[in-house]
Amino acid sequence: MKFQKICVLGLGYIGLPTASTFAAHGLKVLGVDINPYVIETLRGGNVHIHEPGLRTVVQSALNSGNLTISSQAEEADAFLIAVPTPFYEDQYGEHDGRKFRLADMRAVTSATEAILPCLRKGNLVVLESTSPPRTTVDLVKPILERSGLKAGVDFHLCYSPERVLPGQILKELIENARVVGGVTPESAKAGHELYATFVKGEIVETDATTAEMVKLMENTTRDVNIAIANEFARLAEKFGVDIWEAISLANRHPRINILSPGPGVGGHCISVDPWFLVETAPELTPLIYHARQVNDEQPHFVVRKIEQIVGSLKDRKIAALGLAYKPDVDDLRESPAIEVVHLLQKEGAQVKAWEPFKPDAKLRGVDMAAGLEDAIAGAELILLLVKHTEFINLKPEELALKTPARLILDCVNGWTADRWENSGFTVFRLGVNNAKIISQPSQI
Ligand SMILES: NC(=O)c1ccc[n+]([C@@H]2O[C@H](COP(=O)([O-])OP(=O)(O)OC[C@H]3O[C@@H](n4cnc5c(N)ncnc54)[C@H](O)[C@@H]3O)[C@@H](O)[C@H]2O)c1
Repeated sequence: MKFQKICVLGLGYIGLPTASTFAAHGLKVLGVDINPYVIETLRGGNVHIHEPGLRTVVQSALNSGNLTISSQAEEADAFLIAVPTPFYEDQYGEHDGRKFRLADMRAVTSATEAILPCLRKGNLVVLESTSPPRTTVDLVKPILERSGLKAGVDFHLCYSPERVLPGQILKELIENARVVGGVTPESAKAGHELYATFVKGEIVETDATTAEMVKLMENTTRDVNIAIANEFARLAEKFGVDIWEAISLANRHPRINILSPGPGVGGHCISVDPWFLVETAPELTPLIYHARQVNDEQPHFVVRKIEQIVGSLKDRKIAALGLAYKPDVDDLRESPAIEVVHLLQKEGAQVKAWEPFKPDAKLRGVDMAAGLEDAIAGAELILLLVKHTEFINLKPEELALKTPARLILDCVNGWTADRWENSGFTVFRLGVNNAKIISQPSQI
């Protein structure tokens, strides 16, 4: 099958790098998005998301004429769907007293409907959005078959999950192994041929539902593993153990790899995708459900720890460093750091938050600092929530001159406590026993 023109629906963290990489490899690519800001920004030669190297690839794809941007799909040889699949904020399912999140598949539905008038015999349609099992065959296929064409007979239909790491998307897009699941073996083969345009990693063919499951299992495994690390951190505090030391010792076992605890699990994937399995089979997923509960509880655990340090949170001045869901990215979606800030404010604390990767972010209920110095200027306690490299590289002796704060809670094992204590700070760490807290209650 020869692909000359493709249409990518959804130009976010996944769709834009994918569209521009195809364009860089010689295909004519129409990038489609429903957000006028995205279209305007890209047409102006700018990029609306932070991802290393992306601006250069997008600009050269636009300049070469291979990438064009539109609000509407057009006829093409292949269509890729990379639209969001969040959960509903205000709708829940329930099974056996367990309340669970529900996938919001409206963007997938409307993107598929947008392809419908353009669909022609011989086309390939690939869903890349992370989706509940059977979405390709039970949701996407029936919509496309309203055209009168039959999936697997008149056109090819695949599911191919994206497994790139934000921060390294352009490299991993090309180098990672890729799973392509077809509604028929021929569809999988067509999907394989499309991705072979640029993928250097192994491309493995399977069926569509297996491919959906693969993606969900990957992220659910990480969620469950982080949940156990968070539970270990709570146990370490109870037993007077330093969890970071304990994990590094346990991980010397050749078959053990305990992940790091932290203020919770966020982002658009790991904190969301396990719900897709719970929603579709609540009777089979008690472990996955409880792991989600543990990770969602972790911001509350951080807030209780701060309370142990300073006593009542009312009017306490706290500098929150980092709002992204993980280090060195600008992605704030489902971030547990933001949840910590909200919870602290609910308890009456005065929090100033600084996120160097999104300095202009406007978040409801969050007082954003103009910079690091602004965040710490009047603070009593510095709360390290994200292990951004620039935070790790801060010099305690310099910071000590810029803030009256002498208390630190490090939730990510980002700072060497001794160094900071030598500069006059008292450092508390998530997952480390509270003996120090108990012996010197509040220093404020
Ligand atoms: N971001 C990641 O690291 C990552 C990794 C693997 C998988 N995924 C999955 O990929 C999918 C896309 O995620 P993302 O991070 O790129 O999302 P995103 O929010 O960054 O981008 C999605 C884009 O789709 C656009 N959009 C929404 N509805 C549309 C429609 N009907 N037609 C055309 N465009 C539409 C939005 O305006 C937005 O620009 C999700 O299912 C996500 O779970 C993301």
